[in-house]
Amino acid sequence: SLLVKHVQELAINGDEPPQRYIRKDKGNEAPVDTSLSSSVPIIDLHLISSPTSSTQQKQDEIEKLKSALTSWGLFQAIGHGIPSSLLDHLRKMAREFFDLPIEEKRQYAANKDGAHDNYFQGYGNDPVVSKEQTIDWNDRLYLLLKPADERKLKLWPENPSRFREVLKEFSSKSDLLVEFVVKVMAVSLGLDDDYFLNHASLAFARFNYYPPCSRPDLVCGIKPHADGGTITLLLQDEEVEGLQVFKDDKWMKVPIVPDAIIVNVADQIEIMSNGVYKSPVHRVITNSEKERLSLAVFYAPEMGEEIEPATKLISESTPRMFRKIKMKDYYEAFVLNTFRGIRGIDWAR
Ligand code: SIN
Ligand code: FE2
Repeated sequence: SLLVKHVQELAINGDEPPQRYIRKDKGNEAPVDTSLSSSVPIIDLHLISSPTSSTQQKQDEIEKLKSALTSWGLFQAIGHGIPSSLLDHLRKMAREFFDLPIEEKRQYAANKDGAHDNYFQGYGNDPVVSKEQTIDWNDRLYLLLKPADERKLKLWPENPSRFREVLKEFSSKSDLLVEFVVKVMAVSLGLDDDYFLNHASLAFARFNYYPPCSRPDLVCGIKPHADGGTITLLLQDEEVEGLQVFKDDKWMKVPIVPDAIIVNVADQIEIMSNGVYKSPVHRVITNSEKERLSLAVFYAPEMGEEIEPATKLISESTPRMFRKIKMKDYYEAFVLNTFRGIRGIDWAR
């Protein structure tokens, strides 16, 4: 059947993970980098936004940002202007929600029989699209944030009581941060400042909950993938690591930088930038002792939009790398390709 339990229920008795959760890439996977000789760049956005920074400081930080996005496809943003008290509050709300009894959380499942609506909104798990798929060791709460008038508030937890209020506040701060970052990114490539912003009108929050697993070597918290939208913000657990990014044929750990927000290029910016800014492949690994929580906010074009490389970035020396795609087709291909280990971006070449 395509219906599965929440991972939390499987984790409780500590048995070996069921077959459908076992990774198939065991034995031929790339090594994890342990040298720590280089790490995900840290960018201080305040140096770029502040009127008191010198022109030189601004330019240097923008150069660092460009280099981060061309080589890593992501960076750890500090000086992002979202108060750490709000981030702490948000993490606390998320933890309290996932700590509720499963029966109570199930009220927020979009559909009680395990199916979801178009956007997979609600409390659920890795959406199962095929019997061959390895299911991620992760439960989640997935909610549309933008456009605000399309929010499905009945899927927004009422317990803890301030959840909705805190998420709304975070959502408006997150929009401002994304607006700032994608404008800097567009200008850094010589494009109009709203070039990427015009293709980021949807936003979704995904609260991730990774229970410990008795055999973390056998499962994947989230299997290797690149994000399919425009850009993603990511708030890691404050204590428990697990995120890794694929670079130079190795898995690199993404360390926890307190209160940093990870800015992650997604496929549509790789397409629009004609391959200059990279949408990185990443995954999450679990451990046998501690649960891990994270929050991703995905910004994406609407289903009816078409995306293609910016004309300004196509030249004789930098030929067009992607065709024009329709978002609706992209997502359909993306969902099926990801679990087969095929990148959405390759489908668009
Ligand atoms: C994701 O790739 O969306 C999840 C990242 C994380 O949990 O750190
Ligand atoms: Fe992701």
